[in-house]
Amino acid sequence: MKVLGIETSCDETAAGVVGPEGVLSDVVYTQTIHEQYLGVVPELASRAHAEKLTAVVRSALDEAGPVDAVAATSGPGLIGAVLVGLSFAKAYAAGADLPFVGVNHLEGHLLSPLLEPEKPTFPFLGLVVSGGHTTLYLAKAVGDYETLATTVDDAAGEAYDKVARVLGLGYPGGPVIDRLASKGNPEAIRFPRPRATGLNWSFSGLKTAVRNKAEGSDEDIAASFQAAVVDVLLDRVRKASKQTGVTRVALSGGVAANSELRARFTAEPGLQVFLPAKKRCTDNAAMIANAGRLRLVAGQRDGLDVSARPSWTLDSLARP
Ligand code: KG4
Ligand code: ZN
Repeated sequence: MKVLGIETSCDETAAGVVGPEGVLSDVVYTQTIHEQYLGVVPELASRAHAEKLTAVVRSALDEAGPVDAVAATSGPGLIGAVLVGLSFAKAYAAGADLPFVGVNHLEGHLLSPLLEPEKPTFPFLGLVVSGGHTTLYLAKAVGDYETLATTVDDAAGEAYDKVARVLGLGYPGGPVIDRLASKGNPEAIRFPRPRATGLNWSFSGLKTAVRNKAEGSDEDIAASFQAAVVDVLLDRVRKASKQTGVTRVALSGGVAANSELRARFTAEPGLQVFLPAKKRCTDNAAMIANAGRLRLVAGQRDGLDVSARPSWTLDSLARP
């Protein structure tokens, strides 16, 4: 089954096609209009999606050829933005008389390592680290996910973006801090390693710590901040692996593109780490086509009455 995926939950307008052989097309348009505001402006995002989506879908279909089914992100995300892609996908499915399924954006990220040649088998620990989420799941099967840990405040990517703002580095902060950090000393400044109760994380204090202690070169601050983020992420995953006995760990989400995170997890003894290609860490539609395809192949379909769900946790997807 060849599936068209559509993703418009934030500031990437994306369409991609995945078949049994893997990714057949993967077109991503990253909206640039938000840069001047140092963050995503929801109404501008919706309008930009509406302007670009037809061309993006056409380009994905031109490359991959006709499809057998349609999948689209139906949450969580910016409601207006989600609605643009979801409505388009439903209309396309209805017009072409194709089956349709709504996909949880987080499930798209979580299952994105399955698009790689080296894929994790179930059960695996799935760490979704993005601009909106930082959650560790125990993935037992497609659609069966248990939340083991989550952030109690900011997401890790949000911390990158806020620290970049404090340092005057623009938006998004992740890639620029990643680049600067490679030239800095990670031990120059000892930032706190904040931990919340259980296996949870807390990242909001780090931004304040950076603001209060931001002395030294941007490179050293970036490297020291990044070392703190990676330390706490790895610490929790290590503990979760001990608790569950599951050693396969799949990273996903925008922050999983981070070079230090990838290097430190890969080097961690006792863990088998699975990484999506860097371009499939940030938002894309191949991951939505992939998650949708796995559900469609299992016989799942959604009616065209399925609505956008701005807050949709992955745990609630679990079906008995
Ligand atoms: O997955 P994503 O594209 O969107 C969400 O679903 O949130 O993630 C975007 C986030 C942003 O916060 C961005 O700063 C961060 O991922 N990011 C990175 C890197 N590339 C993107 N963070 C650290 N290092 C990177 N190389
Ligand atoms: Zn995302």
